Amino acid sequence: MTAVHAGLTTTKAPFIEQAQANGEVFIRQPYELYSPENHETWRRLYARMMPRWQKYANRRFLAGLSKLAMDPHQVPRLEDVNRFLQPLSGFSAKAVSGYVPAYVFFDCLRNRAFPTTITIRDGQTLDYLPEPDIFHDIAGHVPMHTDRVFADVLVRFGEVARRAAELAHEVADETERIRRVESNIKALARFFWFTIEFGLMREGQELRAYGSGLLSSYGELAHSLESPEVQRFPLQLEWVINQYFEIHHYQPLLFIAESFDHLFAQVDELERWMLEGRLNNVSPGEPHADERDLWSFLNAERRGPG
Ligand SMILES: [Fe+2]
Repeated sequence: MTAVHAGLTTTKAPFIEQAQANGEVFIRQPYELYSPENHETWRRLYARMMPRWQKYANRRFLAGLSKLAMDPHQVPRLEDVNRFLQPLSGFSAKAVSGYVPAYVFFDCLRNRAFPTTITIRDGQTLDYLPEPDIFHDIAGHVPMHTDRVFADVLVRFGEVARRAAELAHEVADETERIRRVESNIKALARFFWFTIEFGLMREGQELRAYGSGLLSSYGELAHSLESPEVQRFPLQLEWVINQYFEIHHYQPLLFIAESFDHLFAQVDELERWMLEGRLNNVSPGEPHADERDLWSFLNAERRGPG
């Protein structure tokens, strides 16, 4: 078996291909498989991000980075990250083989687990990120999970997804049930995108980033806050849930939250809207829920006792 030297590169990882072929979503992190090149890629990504984080990242992200005592020189072990993370907010990073269907992903958040990609991008293409990798998930997301209010936002968001799945069970007509679930997934995915992935926040007189898509991109982090071409508007729920987005270029439109408490309140509002049926007819366009997303909601277990 040559897998020992094959590495865990996003574009080429036999271990991951095997797990996916076996239908395994949650996996272990086979740390011994990272190649020297994989570690070198982590080191380079981390080193060049550090000055940008100091300049553009939300203060709680910076505090989270130091609380996690992450090694800048090699790919982190999830168990080491979790040893620091769990006592702070109850969250833990959980290794996955790749794509996680929408409901499963949101339900992990509700249970304070964060599905985490374990492969790392190819060192030749530090900027090109067609899909999440461990740098995005661990360096971009996890520092925010050290913050209790932010962690509670994610849990709350997972609860909203669960309520959406429960409500769908109550719709007798199958066509209508599927149509509503699709619209709800779209609304939830858009909210997640414009806050957790690409959110900006006021910090005194400044704007800073707390969204992980920005915090894991060397180019876009600066662009999001410096470029006059980016539209930046106060976070408005009615806009966010109806706004389509595209993933293959820098975001032209970003939303600004006032604080983490404000963000938490917006998730409460999102739940109210969902319960009132206001997420059942959001505007068409991306993102499109695929079959797996749809079925993950339709097959979600009904709430048991407790
Ligand atoms: Fe992400």
